[in-house]
Amino acid sequence: MTRSRFDSLAPVNCRPLRGVIFDMDGVLTDTIEFHYQTWQRLADEEGIPFTRQANEALRGLSRRDSLLRILQGRVLPEAKIQELLERKNRYFRSFIDTMTAEYLLPGVQVFLHDLRQAGIKTAVASASQNVYIVIEKLGIASDIDVITNVYDVDRPKPAPDVFLYAAQQLGLGPQDCVVFEDAESGVEAARAAQMRVIGLGDAAQVGAADWVLPGLEGVRWHDVQAKLTPGV
Ligand code: BG6
Ligand code: MG
Repeated sequence: MTRSRFDSLAPVNCRPLRGVIFDMDGVLTDTIEFHYQTWQRLADEEGIPFTRQANEALRGLSRRDSLLRILQGRVLPEAKIQELLERKNRYFRSFIDTMTAEYLLPGVQVFLHDLRQAGIKTAVASASQNVYIVIEKLGIASDIDVITNVYDVDRPKPAPDVFLYAAQQLGLGPQDCVVFEDAESGVEAARAAQMRVIGLGDAAQVGAADWVLPGLEGVRWHDVQAKLTPGV
């Protein structure tokens, strides 16, 4: 049989991975509890019902989108919305002030080291406006090649924009990258970017990922590459 000039091209999802794009909250650090406590305080102050369970549905959403969900259709003047967003962030920043490397989730440091050893590029693509200060506080800024958030692009997750932007900043194509996400909106965004995606945590949130794991603890790069690049 004659060889076609396409024979040497592996299918897109079989290309070896060259970059990892991390979501931050709930993947690298457990700020979800901080977000919960600050939203709960704000909701209590405003007399709006809110629960820990309701907070789960906010994973991955921007601060404004989270507030709109909490308001459940209540209409407020824009100035009041801005005041609530600023107050929420003020409460959240007082938690951030206490952060150190101890707030890294289990397995993160080892995995980042693994990636460096393997020559894999790394990015953080978050919905959080606080992404730079949190990464700094966690002490991992020098392990990450590109840090970005949804304010660098037009549309927040679940649109693919922030992941496509991160890949571009790394000098890679979407097919070269795998995303690690803990939120449904983030998995959806990675899929829309046509990237491979590993979901961390609850399958009810991240079941649409290519691979679902409890967290980064014990995860080694060669296992990820083998799982997501079959036959290469
Ligand atoms: C996401 C979190 O990463 O960032 C959300 O999952 C949070 O819970 C969002 O609301 C926005 O964060 P920030 O720091 O801009 O208020
Ligand atoms: Mg997250």
